[in-house]
Amino acid sequence: LEKKDLEGKNVLITAGPTREYLDPVRFISNRSSGKMGFALAEEAYKRGAKVTLISGPVNIQTYASIEIINVETASQMYDVVKRIKDEHDILIFSAAVADFRPKDFKSTKIKKDQLENFYIELEKNPDILRYAGETKKNGQIIVGFSAETENIVENSQKKLYEKNADLIVANNVLQEGAGFDVDTNIVTLVSKDKIIELPKLSKKEVASKIFDFIVDYLCKK
Ligand code: PMT
Repeated sequence: LEKKDLEGKNVLITAGPTREYLDPVRFISNRSSGKMGFALAEEAYKRGAKVTLISGPVNIQTYASIEIINVETASQMYDVVKRIKDEHDILIFSAAVADFRPKDFKSTKIKKDQLENFYIELEKNPDILRYAGETKKNGQIIVGFSAETENIVENSQKKLYEKNADLIVANNVLQEGAGFDVDTNIVTLVSKDKIIELPKLSKKEVASKIFDFIVDYLCKK
């Protein structure tokens, strides 16, 4: 039986890694495949939502009815979120946004000649989830992820309050079958009044549990 419990909702999802360029051919990035974010987008679409997916560089195909906005850098992702966030009812930040970017971008390829060591100075990227939380509209639901290696629940509760989110989906990225690149995930859902530990599930099933939580506990009835 198909649930259509997201009918009439506009859902915004960020997915994948960002790339932070040093020069035209080199960048700093991470192992995010986009699988978690695309699973969320497809689940929301199947349940009747209008879905916009802002994605870093990934190798996944999805339904033509899901609007995809492709970006590379954290700054580009931030600009798109800023521009369209107010049109959305549910915002889910599953992208692995680089926290830092190289301070200087060289517009030509960096040469190794005469360099024995090479130092890269990094500066902070904008925190997109924090911005969305700070500017949250009445009735908007904001969901963040947290990639943790220790004190998972405590760190996630801290994020929940600091970033004014309604739900944090915490994955212990050190566990086998959780986090980056794999098809499964092991997550704990942390809201102001609930902590739900889920077993190892496919990212598709995790996406379904996240929307069940949103519909059951966060959407105004
Ligand atoms: O893409 P996959 O291979 O399927 O892997 C899925 C995943 C491991 C990437 C995903 O499940 C996940 O955990 N995504 C968030 C990873 C992360 O960057 O966690 P964080 O603890 O550094 O960030 C916390 C939250 O703030 C996240 O919602 C993140 O999207 C957001 N953030 C972080 C930094 C930043 N500058 N802007 C942000 O919006």
